[in-house]
Amino acid sequence: MAQINEHYLKLQAGYLFPEIGRRVNAFIDSHPDADVIKLGIGDVTEPLPPAIIEAMHVAVDELAVRETFRGYGPEQGYDFLREAIVANDYVARGVDIAADEIFVSDGSKCDSGNILDIFGPDNRVAVLDPVYPVYVDTNVMVGRTGVADEIGRYQGFVYLPVTEENQFRPSLPSEPVDLIYLCYPNNPTGTVATMDMLSEWVDYARNNDAIILFDAAYEAYITDPQIPHSIYEVDGAREVAIEFRSFSKNAGFTGVRTAFTVVPKTVMGKLSSGEVQPLHSLWNRRHCTKFNGVSYPIQRGAAAAYSDAGKQQIRELIDFYLENARLLREGLESSGITVFGGVNAPYVWLKTPGGLSSWDFFDLLLDRGHLVGTPGSGFGASGEGYFRLSAFNSRENVEAAIERFKRVTA
Ligand code: MLT
Repeated sequence: MAQINEHYLKLQAGYLFPEIGRRVNAFIDSHPDADVIKLGIGDVTEPLPPAIIEAMHVAVDELAVRETFRGYGPEQGYDFLREAIVANDYVARGVDIAADEIFVSDGSKCDSGNILDIFGPDNRVAVLDPVYPVYVDTNVMVGRTGVADEIGRYQGFVYLPVTEENQFRPSLPSEPVDLIYLCYPNNPTGTVATMDMLSEWVDYARNNDAIILFDAAYEAYITDPQIPHSIYEVDGAREVAIEFRSFSKNAGFTGVRTAFTVVPKTVMGKLSSGEVQPLHSLWNRRHCTKFNGVSYPIQRGAAAAYSDAGKQQIRELIDFYLENARLLREGLESSGITVFGGVNAPYVWLKTPGGLSSWDFFDLLLDRGHLVGTPGSGFGASGEGYFRLSAFNSRENVEAAIERFKRVTA
């Protein structure tokens, strides 16, 4: 009989969002008339920008004609997309990234898990707490941790709490680490990293031979011109950072699926012999072996996100969700709730009222308000006592959600 990967058995319950889905479905089964508003998972609700739809239509038509038909594309992505990414996301911000350092993929969630393929088993990993659960669970799956303790923290991780007490600014690890996950604008807290803070991390990584895995999936929500959008805006980051970017939360591709990972040729890892080796060639090898590229019409759609019309339409979409975030933040604050985030990010992070646990508050909101959010403790032990609301929904639902929230917490 085949042996299983027993590290999977160390994982806590279900993955957070399916677990929420399960609880919500059970509630709906027993309350079939309830009109439930979901501000849980950060899934976009508004249609794709017209410039993107148009580009996809044209590309689909090309596939209907022998002369313009395309089969397998380059695994790393078509040049038209990689070049548009470099010009708009990097060169325009004064950052030196080459098109062949961009790897187009079907998602940042996948990439942030898959990247572990190129790292050895003995690396020590640091994560913020609370944290996007994928970083933790994928390391557990590959066996880099021991079992979880009673508050859900796995042996072997270095957890860096981010709470109101430290103004959501993680301290540098006090013990040696090799891989550091940073996500800014932050999921789940909606807070941002200043240039000064990212510089501190880049210096740390350079001085300690660590690699930063920087998730910038929410960079389009940055409204403050002083806040960096990419870790590569920090001098020296090209030697120590891999960056994950996504079209999900800006262009609305959560269902369409396109993202990219940046692996500069200057980021190195070491062999057991002590010799150093660029990670770029390893990731390229992994990508070409396990992935056949994003489909042509979808890459054309992603490239249209960088056209003048695409940029304008995406700006409107983001402003729409940011206005939802503002309404949520101010609505909650007016009822005495302590709220963080939601200014440069589509997530509002709040303290549960009356000292309720995160899951108790989840149940209360669902039962009494027919409103779904995400319990902070689902993102880690330091998220206990906090709760996340996503700004991804229609204006009507966000306004109704605020009223329900106020009613339940009055
Ligand atoms: C979230 O709600 O945290 C995100 O939607 C998860 C994701 O992007 O995978």
